[in-house]
Amino acid sequence: MKKYLVTGGAGFIGANFVKYLLDTHGDEISIHVLDALTYAGNLMTIADELKRDNVEFTRGDILDAETVGRIFDEFDPDYVVNFAAESHVDRSIEHPRLFLETNILGTQNMLDQARRSWLMPGTKDTYRPGKRFLQISTDEVYGSLPREFDTPQPLAVSAEVAKVASGRTDLHTFGKEMFTEDTPLAPRSPYSAAKTGADLITLAYHETYGLPVNITRCSNNYGPYHFPEKLIPLIINNILTGRRLPVYGRGENVRDWLYVTDHAKAIDMVLRHGRVGEVYNVGGFNEAANIDIVRTIIDTISRLMHDNPGYMPLLKRPLDEVTYDLIDFVTDRPGHDMRYAIDPSKIATELGWYPETPFKEGIEKTVRWYLDNQPWMESVTSGEYQNYYRQMYSDR
Ligand code: NAD
Ligand code: TYD
Repeated sequence: MKKYLVTGGAGFIGANFVKYLLDTHGDEISIHVLDALTYAGNLMTIADELKRDNVEFTRGDILDAETVGRIFDEFDPDYVVNFAAESHVDRSIEHPRLFLETNILGTQNMLDQARRSWLMPGTKDTYRPGKRFLQISTDEVYGSLPREFDTPQPLAVSAEVAKVASGRTDLHTFGKEMFTEDTPLAPRSPYSAAKTGADLITLAYHETYGLPVNITRCSNNYGPYHFPEKLIPLIINNILTGRRLPVYGRGENVRDWLYVTDHAKAIDMVLRHGRVGEVYNVGGFNEAANIDIVRTIIDTISRLMHDNPGYMPLLKRPLDEVTYDLIDFVTDRPGHDMRYAIDPSKIATELGWYPETPFKEGIEKTVRWYLDNQPWMESVTSGEYQNYYRQMYSDR
């Protein structure tokens, strides 16, 4: 029975990972979730999972050596998946220090405790078998790519990748370059700089102490339980609650969107089959300009409302006002990265992973989920999270 310690498991991707694990392995695994329940984490997200005998929860900070150490001693995880982080670029521009503390020092504390607990007695760099530390990173550590094409162009992939991806014919790109695992790290925001620091200290623990680690660097995730500060849930929430839709700059920035369950599957494959010490890029093969994402959400909500009048009471404005006229082009984010594009050929060819969910299907599932789960949205947005940063600084 494999034991997973999942930090940040009450947040967006961590919670979807916990759900994926239980759907896939049922009672053959056990899970310990460690989460500080910041503004971004909510126990309602994993309420059903916490009722199970094989899932336990600790509220705590990944920076707290005593709490983390106790979990290692008592639960003795085989796998650690470190999702816990401050994750929003706009907030990192306002509060860089907190991002460095949580994302770098928090990761270092997790690595330290893994090293202490997993080391074979009497050795300096030999660990008990079957242990793996997976640091969840981001494509943002590679910096920004140029957008070279006005309209997306067909994307050619190698024959090997095409074999894994059989059936997917909708691949396209906005530029010739993509991020590979060998692309030099060149972060440009306090968030991505902090995530890069975490990657480097993770690799340093592997090189220096032989700790069995992996890193996954994924593109922008979307799906259920996404906090409505990020583009896709923010736009859905603003449409439903009668607000306008802020698009930074001209909306031409490009992101590669990955359905969150596809990401969860990749993480479990790396834990179980990845080569120790390796970095794996995880991408959606789905580049889109922000303005097109926003228009797709407007179209999808409008169509679903027309087809299912039962959803109409959720909309705090007349349906005929749900048009592109709701879009406001607002002041751009400082240092706004132009384009992210992940080349996931390594994980495709080594582990047979491929993003399975086409964007059209994923975005429809996502919008429907928000329409069907408004109590969740109300719960996560009703908290006193405006004071959160002041509180975090004073607590540490
Ligand atoms: P999120 O903000 O939704 O969730 C973060 C979770 O971590 C929350 O539950 C929060 O309470 C918890 N947390 C924060 N600080 C903590 C601390 N000090 N101790 C313990 N728990 C703490 O983030 P997410 O979108 O789920 O992202 C998860 C991970 O994936 C992050 O490491 C992020 O950098 C990475 N990532 C996210 C995306 C994306 O598109 N969302 C893309 C690439 C990489
Ligand atoms: P976001 O979801 O914050 O993810 P990231 O910055 O990590 O990629 O933003 C996705 C893109 O959407 C990014 O280019 C910034 C843009 N954006 C807007 O145009 N308006 C918004 O209100 C937000 C939150 C983001």
